[in-house]
Amino acid sequence: MSNKLVAVVYHSGYGHTQVLAEQVLQGAKDGGAEALLVPVSDVDKHWDDLAKADAIIFGSPTYMGSVSADFKAFMDKSSKVWAEQGWKDKLAAGFTNSASMSGDKLNTLQQLSIFAAQQSMLWVSLGILPGNNSSTGSPDDLNRVGSYLGAMAQSNADQGSDVVPPQSDRETARLLGVRVAEIARKFN
Ligand SMILES: Cc1cc2nc3c(=O)[nH]c(=O)nc-3n(C[C@H](O)[C@H](O)[C@H](O)COP(=O)(O)O)c2cc1C
Repeated sequence: MSNKLVAVVYHSGYGHTQVLAEQVLQGAKDGGAEALLVPVSDVDKHWDDLAKADAIIFGSPTYMGSVSADFKAFMDKSSKVWAEQGWKDKLAAGFTNSASMSGDKLNTLQQLSIFAAQQSMLWVSLGILPGNNSSTGSPDDLNRVGSYLGAMAQSNADQGSDVVPPQSDRETARLLGVRVAEIARKFN
């Protein structure tokens, strides 16, 4: 059986969400898939690759409580794919990052999941129980932000992408990639 192809389509204005995208990519590889990283600025070179992908994982920073304008432009461009239902029955998943612990990141993941539904894709949740929510919890826990719909990360506004998001968020993102690759393999 040939390897599954997982594409990671993302936008990052200042590099923080890119760190996560690279982690998701690594996770997809760790999960046994071929993996392709597609910044939305390059998407026009990759529509054929996306058509071949078994899964597409979407990532955007949360800007003003929603996906970034660059990511939304990609969503709107994909209406040609929508018209042909070209991504129907592919797996989908999502991740986002913002400065505040909440920052209204849930709205961004909801946007991504509705986008996937409009494309008739099958949404894969994060699949990691929330951490950092008990007396024995810590910010070093996986899924420290406590998301179910996708991977959430938090990056302090005054620190660069060499420092934030922290390792726990990076590993949470990697495990989302692993999960999508493993489900893609099971899902023929
Ligand atoms: C235009 C703009 C809007 C933002 N809106 C939010 C927001 O709604 N919630 C939040 O927590 N952080 C917000 N932030 C902070 C970013 O989400 C945060 O800096 C993130 O790490 C940026 O990711 P990036 O480096 O991948 O662009 C905003 C930043 C910018 C530039």
